Amino acid sequence: MAKFIIASNRLPVTVKKTDADFTYSKSIGGLATGLKNYHAQNDAVWVGWPGVAKERLSKTDQRTIHTTLETDYKAKPVFLSEEDITLYYEGFSNKTLWPLFHYFAEKTEHTVPMWNAYQAVNQTFLDAIDPLIEEDSTIWVHDYQLLLLPGLIREKYPTVKIGFFLHIPFPSFEIFRLLIWQKEILLGLLGADLIGFHTYDYVRHFLSSIRRILGLDHHLYQIKHEDRLIETDAFPMGIHYDYFAESPVEAYDKKSDHLILSVDRLDYTKGILERLESFRVFLEKYPDYHAKVSFYLIVAPSRTGLDTYESLKESIEKTVSEINGAYGSFDWMPVWFLYQSFTQEELISFYKAADLMLVTPLRDGMNLVAKEYLAAQAHHHGMLILSETAGAASELSEALIVNPNDHDGVADEIKHAFEMTPEERMSRHKIMQKRLKRYSVTFWADTFMKRLNAIEPTVKTLKQEEVLDLDAVEASFKQASRKILFLDYDGTLMGFKKHPDQAYPSVRLKKRLTTLAEKPGTDVVVISGRDHQTLENWLGMLPVSLVGDHGLFIKKKGGAWKQMITASDAWMTSLRNVLDTYADQMPGAFIEDKTHSLAFHYRNAEPDMLSVKIPDLKETLRTMIGSEPIEIQEGHRVIEIKDQRINKGQATYQFTNDHDYDFILTIGDDTTDEDMFKAQSKGLTIKVGFGDTAAQKRVRSTKDVSALLERLES
Ligand code: UDP
Ligand code: G6P
Repeated sequence: MAKFIIASNRLPVTVKKTDADFTYSKSIGGLATGLKNYHAQNDAVWVGWPGVAKERLSKTDQRTIHTTLETDYKAKPVFLSEEDITLYYEGFSNKTLWPLFHYFAEKTEHTVPMWNAYQAVNQTFLDAIDPLIEEDSTIWVHDYQLLLLPGLIREKYPTVKIGFFLHIPFPSFEIFRLLIWQKEILLGLLGADLIGFHTYDYVRHFLSSIRRILGLDHHLYQIKHEDRLIETDAFPMGIHYDYFAESPVEAYDKKSDHLILSVDRLDYTKGILERLESFRVFLEKYPDYHAKVSFYLIVAPSRTGLDTYESLKESIEKTVSEINGAYGSFDWMPVWFLYQSFTQEELISFYKAADLMLVTPLRDGMNLVAKEYLAAQAHHHGMLILSETAGAASELSEALIVNPNDHDGVADEIKHAFEMTPEERMSRHKIMQKRLKRYSVTFWADTFMKRLNAIEPTVKTLKQEEVLDLDAVEASFKQASRKILFLDYDGTLMGFKKHPDQAYPSVRLKKRLTTLAEKPGTDVVVISGRDHQTLENWLGMLPVSLVGDHGLFIKKKGGAWKQMITASDAWMTSLRNVLDTYADQMPGAFIEDKTHSLAFHYRNAEPDMLSVKIPDLKETLRTMIGSEPIEIQEGHRVIEIKDQRINKGQATYQFTNDHDYDFILTIGDDTTDEDMFKAQSKGLTIKVGFGDTAAQKRVRSTKDVSALLERLES
């Protein structure tokens, strides 16, 4: 049993099966290298894929790997089949999410089998973690391969702490919206209590997608979803600074005056071809450097099963040989291409030797190599050229920041770096070293965990006194002789739809209302802000009473509609014009004309403009209303303007004043229903959803209302 669980696709150790045995080597890639120290220092079990296909392992092999990982690496393997690897890892993770999130929309593939495998493997991860989870467990899920896992864990364990960290960029909404399964992915992530990103840009992009795709608002980086508050923030990942800065490893013995280095996994996001092109331009523009400069291009093999990666390797080889062919001599080879993985100790020796590091990805979530190089150069002040599109650029502005596509610009910065005075190097380094030392990987993980642990238990479980005792309600309903049910319509009997016209009653609902209303001594009142003609069309044929326009019109069971007061409509024309103007400016917003009131619906409007337009609209309306006897009432993404003498609470008296009911049940979800809760506080009042209320009890959703009515109907 473990209290602290780390889950990621890649474990810090990769297992390879050789003919006779297994080898366990350190994994490369920012997630594994970055997190491994934190894992080593803490009492945590790391759950992930060991990197070898299940089919290559016998049951005994699996057991051996399991035991070795558990005892030597505090890890637990999730074994994946060849099909999982093809469809989930190489497929949805690396052919869909990876390219899309790095803005390579044209490389993004959408296929249903890959999506299905992705869902299934996220479930496999849940199954692997499940036996480790305790009530007070903290689970930290990592990266794009496991975006659904927080949601899956949350479904099963409503109160455990779940953190999620994304190691790659979160793209802008316009890119993210291209994903077919955008909703499912966002909902999966929202299972977490805390969602971390490397930069504030990624946080903003995520929040904008949440708002525009799920319609969920946020405030101070917090999202309210169902009954939970989810926090988001930027936590720029650091490195194990002292390890790189204080390493005793000797610098590699360089063969030229100026050594340029770059280190990447083989990946099209890293801008390797563009970097070579910039180097070619440098050689072309600045021939004085010929024979004095070498470029060591270290590329570690990665995702070798994918064609895009294989063809990139070929393009690199071709470009390198073109450059060497065009500019090199028998004594001088400009580019040294090393297609192999190095240990971090070996890398340090290169880092120490290099005068200049080129980190020019086209997109990168963070890029730890840039930070590792600077730390290893703490005493020599080698310069870093860094892409503005790498997450690290938001922290390392004293590096030479470039646009990776601007080959001329990069070439000039290479020269600039070589010719920079020692004073300038030192002053740039001073600021960056200070930051890297303080914001180390331990600082990063501690800050994230501290924040996660400070979050109150996420599920606002209903307060004990708010929980409905269904048996007791059913019993008192059955015992009573005169009973009445006041049921709000939208958000109570029916869920919200994109347009109010689509929320017509289902056959099942009509049947349920009829059955209830036909029970002896039972009155059913559907009470709504909708105009009475709509209610008549939808429910007029049922043996129930109807209240429309928030109480302006009432039709008692079997009777005719009656208007309760003479409402003045004089205000409607001028306010209608104002609402029209706002609706014109807010695509998606529309006005619902009711007999004596107006409703301005904005649930389909562009969310980003609401924070400006809605307060402005309310202010304008308030000014125009002046002393007219009308009021503005806010509901669920709707503003209603109506005669202030009318409200649902008053309407309920039209029923309860004439009869002595011994069971009164009132259910509603919105602000307009609060008047009913206050008016009928002697009966049982139930609010649907969260937020302040005068009701005595609470249920979470229309589903719960349906379940309650089903009990009463039986
Ligand atoms: N790395 C390594 N050996 C190599 C190449 C890279 O150990 O041959 C490590 C490197 O030290 C760094 C990580 O892999 O810690 C790469 O992380 P980065 O954030 O730069 O890029 P990512 O691979 O995560 O996209
Ligand atoms: C990036 C990703 C990691 C991944 C690593 C190596 O750093 O953010 O999740 O582990 O690349 O890629 P691989 O596919 O070999 O795990």
